[in-house]
Amino acid sequence: MTGRNQTVVSDFILLGLPIRPEQQNLFYVLFLAMYLTTVLGNLLIIVLIRLDSHLHTPMYMLLSNLSFSDLCFSSVTMPKLLQNMQSQVPSIPYAGCLTQMYFFLFFADLESFLLVAMAYDRFVAICFPLHYTTIMSPKLCLSLVVFSWVLTTFHAMLHTLLMARLCFCENNVIPHFFCDMSALLKLSCSDTQINELVILIIGGLILVIPFLLIIMSYARIISSILRVPSARGIRKAFSTCGSHLTVVLLFYGTIFVLYLVPSSNNSTVKETVMAMMYTVVTPMLNPFIYSLRNKDMKGALLRVFSKRKIPFYL
Ligand SMILES: *[C@@H]1O[C@H](CO)[C@@H](O)[C@H](O)[C@H]1NC(C)=O
Repeated sequence: MTGRNQTVVSDFILLGLPIRPEQQNLFYVLFLAMYLTTVLGNLLIIVLIRLDSHLHTPMYMLLSNLSFSDLCFSSVTMPKLLQNMQSQVPSIPYAGCLTQMYFFLFFADLESFLLVAMAYDRFVAICFPLHYTTIMSPKLCLSLVVFSWVLTTFHAMLHTLLMARLCFCENNVIPHFFCDMSALLKLSCSDTQINELVILIIGGLILVIPFLLIIMSYARIISSILRVPSARGIRKAFSTCGSHLTVVLLFYGTIFVLYLVPSSNNSTVKETVMAMMYTVVTPMLNPFIYSLRNKDMKGALLRVFSKRKIPFYL
């Protein structure tokens, strides 16, 4: 590629967020606080589930995986955003940009597959309560996780390799706060038809199939609750599924609004704000949505911390 008669881009400039200079510091503090909350909240969930043996069930194993994925997902974009907000030239090397894109896709997909696995877990728990332990065995749970990792590895690799084929000429300014795939495609001076086709077909499948599977699981759950309505059963089902559904709606809602609602050319601000929603806000809220409403998690918190305190009293 360097043999061609073109200047080849070695660095990209990330324009960042559409924030006025005088508000830069305010937002810096805000994003730093959000990022720290995300890291600490998700770490707390992972540690609690690891330490408390009551939580060694498929549902909590998957939740722990989701927390890990959230933690990594926001770590792909946030540290670089925070660093760029403080630097004069907010640049990122070409290789760094592709790496960021790879891990961004990887953890976004992983999140999506884990949400499917969690919906399936709830479906089995509510529709086949007597067979739950035999169907959702630790082996199946592990297979679902491994399958998600393998599939996301290939999907992220495919898009990254296709992107690596493209040439980038003079224009190296990305109007975004991370190396977003569609922003990069707009900058390229090669033919991007194949990339767009692959994004449309495979990306669509990777987004739509998990979403449909989740909707199907919850539809079955709701219909099975309504068939034998009892106040206690309904409350129990909604307390476990309500938090899952909130997360699903947050995650897919923003992505669908972002990609499916038609936008004018001048919509960089809207795109950046929506991207902010699912890269920063969703991973930050997930731990709170799960643990604040959940008696098991609160119990675990008490058990783990009181266990740690006992030696001091002895
Ligand atoms: C993810 O789930 C698997 C399968 O249940 C489990 O063995 C593993 O420890 C989990 N990983 C994390 C980070 O929680």
